[in-house]
Amino acid sequence: MLVLAMFASSVAIVVGGAEVKGLSPCSFPAIFNFGDSNSDTGAYSAALGASRLPDGARTFWILNMGPIGCLPINLNYILNRTEESFDQNGCNNRWNRMAVEYNKQLKNKLIKLRRKLPEAAITYVDVYTAKYRLICNAKNLGFTNPLKYCIQYIKKKNGIKVEDDQCNASAYISWDGTHYTDAANHLIAKSILNGSLSDPPLSITHACHKHVTL
Ligand SMILES: *[C@@H]1O[C@H](CO)[C@@H](O)[C@H](O)[C@H]1NC(C)=O
Ligand SMILES: *[C@@H]1O[C@H](CO)[C@@H](O)[C@H](O)[C@H]1NC(C)=O
Ligand SMILES: *[C@@H]1O[C@H](CO)[C@@H](O)[C@H](O)[C@H]1NC(C)=O
Repeated sequence: MLVLAMFASSVAIVVGGAEVKGLSPCSFPAIFNFGDSNSDTGAYSAALGASRLPDGARTFWILNMGPIGCLPINLNYILNRTEESFDQNGCNNRWNRMAVEYNKQLKNKLIKLRRKLPEAAITYVDVYTAKYRLICNAKNLGFTNPLKYCIQYIKKKNGIKVEDDQCNASAYISWDGTHYTDAANHLIAKSILNGSLSDPPLSITHACHKHVTL
């Protein structure tokens, strides 16, 4: 699980590039995020109620599933490449289609959950798009091949397998084939915090406002 610290508040709210005055920044100290390190199952448990909600929580920022067809680790499990199709980055189309379908169903669940929990402010965050854009732009952003990962080389030291700690993590999007590097997460966070990939499109500092008329 991950707790995202709140960022400095601003006086006006950014909604789809326009400023909507009159909404004050939220006063909550933190946003609670469900699930594992990639939040790939976290959104599911939040939507389906498998996680126990933190007491008194009213504001939920729910990240959707990322492009799992681009996770280097998953590409190891493709048995017959000629049967599969891949995009221009080398990501597996079938796995990514599964994530897109999952996200569609997640969004529908959250729409129902908003009706069920009228006191809660529930924001759906399209981190899939943030991650996929990053992968498509890897080269322009100074990253190496997005399907390679940093600690892929296992060396033997005194007969023991160790991770290669010589790699330059700033040059990679994937840390270990599963988790994103700090460099990648920094850019992903930057592209989601202002709300441009959120529904409703509120910046994280204003995500507590529910029933906003846009
Ligand atoms: C949100 O931030 C991203 C990344 O910095 C930027 O590309 C985008 O234009 C911003 N959107 C708005 C609505 O400010
Ligand atoms: C891989 O799939 C292709 C197309 O379905 C098939 O012709 C080929 O025999 C398969 N290769 C193996 C090793 O199973
Ligand atoms: C690490 O990678 C980054 C991004 O590609 C690059 O700017 C930097 O110079 C590299 N550092 C070293 C020590 O190679």
